[in-house]
Amino acid sequence: MKIVAVNGGPRKGKNTDQMLNAFIEGVREVAPEAEIEFIRLYDYAFKGCLSCFACQLEKNRGEIGCRVKDEISDLLRDTRNADGIVFVSPIYYCNVSAQLRLFWERLQYPGPSRRKLPTALIYTMNANEEQTAQFMGKPLELNSWYLEGCFGEKPETICSYDTFQYNDNVAYTPAFREPAARKKALHDQKFEADLRNAQSAGRRMAQRIGE
Ligand SMILES: Cc1cc2nc3c(=O)[nH]c(=O)nc-3n(C[C@H](O)[C@H](O)[C@H](O)COP(=O)(O)O)c2cc1C
Repeated sequence: MKIVAVNGGPRKGKNTDQMLNAFIEGVREVAPEAEIEFIRLYDYAFKGCLSCFACQLEKNRGEIGCRVKDEISDLLRDTRNADGIVFVSPIYYCNVSAQLRLFWERLQYPGPSRRKLPTALIYTMNANEEQTAQFMGKPLELNSWYLEGCFGEKPETICSYDTFQYNDNVAYTPAFREPAARKKALHDQKFEADLRNAQSAGRRMAQRIGE
């Protein structure tokens, strides 16, 4: 069993990273032998789709995939060949990070996967659940819709709301200093439950693949 973990966040060890680690912990509980390929998108220099349409040429039919050769060519191929894929991203301006969007353009534009495969989508965001539904409901719904079009199934989606971004430190401007204290309290109350949700989703993906 091979699972590819595509991480669209820049910060090591923070909310997004921790949610991904919890998901992988869940996978490993069910499938200790699972091969996990971690792709940290911020480690690569790459562009999004160049609109070259090489992936759609009649002569290339049957070889689904982006034809552009660069640092992520092999990673795109590995992702499409996986048995399961988990995408994680902080929310930046009401959607996933720009890096994950660039990756999705090149992953999805070549067309639907020949095999149905389970995907999971983990978001971490500053907004609470209500604000997320109000401002990000549509973009996040569309992300799921596109992934379903490509991989044949709706992704299981897990959100960690109201995340804690930085310590309450005088180094920050006043506008950023005050919410930090409130966020820390919220984090202590609920982040552990978010991690457990991600872990359960990891278990479910491994179980689905193993069936
Ligand atoms: C450039 C930028 C834009 C952001 N935009 C949003 C946003 O639109 N909505 C939101 O809820 N949070 C937003 N956030 C907050 C992050 O999504 C949130 O803190 C996230 O959990 C950070 O993940 P990390 O700790 O793994 O870096 C933004 C943060 C940054 C740095």
